[in-house]
Amino acid sequence: MIFILTGAGISQESGIDTFRDKGGLWRKVRVEDVATPAGFRRDAAKVHRFYNQRRKELTSSRRVPNAAHLALAELALTLDRGEVFLVTQNVDDLHERAGSPEVCHLHGSLLSALCLNCGRRSDWKGDMDRSSSCPKCAQKGGLRPDVVWFGERPFHFDLVYEMLSRCSLFVSIGTSGAVYPAAGLVGGAKASGAKTLEINVVPTGREKLFDEGLYGPATEMVPLWTEKLIKNK
Ligand code: APR
Repeated sequence: MIFILTGAGISQESGIDTFRDKGGLWRKVRVEDVATPAGFRRDAAKVHRFYNQRRKELTSSRRVPNAAHLALAELALTLDRGEVFLVTQNVDDLHERAGSPEVCHLHGSLLSALCLNCGRRSDWKGDMDRSSSCPKCAQKGGLRPDVVWFGERPFHFDLVYEMLSRCSLFVSIGTSGAVYPAAGLVGGAKASGAKTLEINVVPTGREKLFDEGLYGPATEMVPLWTEKLIKNK
């Protein structure tokens, strides 16, 4: 089974900002203010503005899946079911819109709302603020973006570790490897004997962890890689 971990770099050519590149999101706003529970407690309105802006951009017609998203979807649909396990750190829905059958969102989803009153999740495409009411319990004032903030536990980690122990190939696409526990997955894959491949626009300085590297824009490198796999299927 092929374990694929994607990061913001796979969506960069779709016009979605990365975090740590030049011009990235964390160069424009402070993580502490918009991506921590304490920041939300301190100024929920500021956090809502930040995610409302990203949701507006994501749902605008100009942000569409690119050739890399489409290539991964084609790979999963061409190989036998269960042969590809796709985990993304991204909160966009571009993998789903590209047609990937199953996407494991480690850090949650921009288009989902979590109600702190009833604990339930709802699809959410528009703006959110303290006056928004939960579609499930109708209470106001308890909605937050359904994303994982720094200091919070990523989603689905038990499943992720289970699949990691079973993969024969681990492919990291468009991620800087700056944030744990996602950044530690390649080490886990290596420890369980998997081959490891990094696909990124530039090397991320973790050459010791990757057996191979494909360096260039994801829209060129990912299709190159998947076409080879599909041909040798
Ligand atoms: N093609 C391939 N790789 C690219 C491209 C591209 N067109 N553009 C950028 N990249 C690469 C960069 O070289 C970098 O290694 O994508 C990576 C983006 O790194 P980050 O901005 O750190 O994003 P990511 O690794 O996804 O961040 C992980 O950090 O802040 C948290 O929750 C946030 O999920 C995010 C996590």
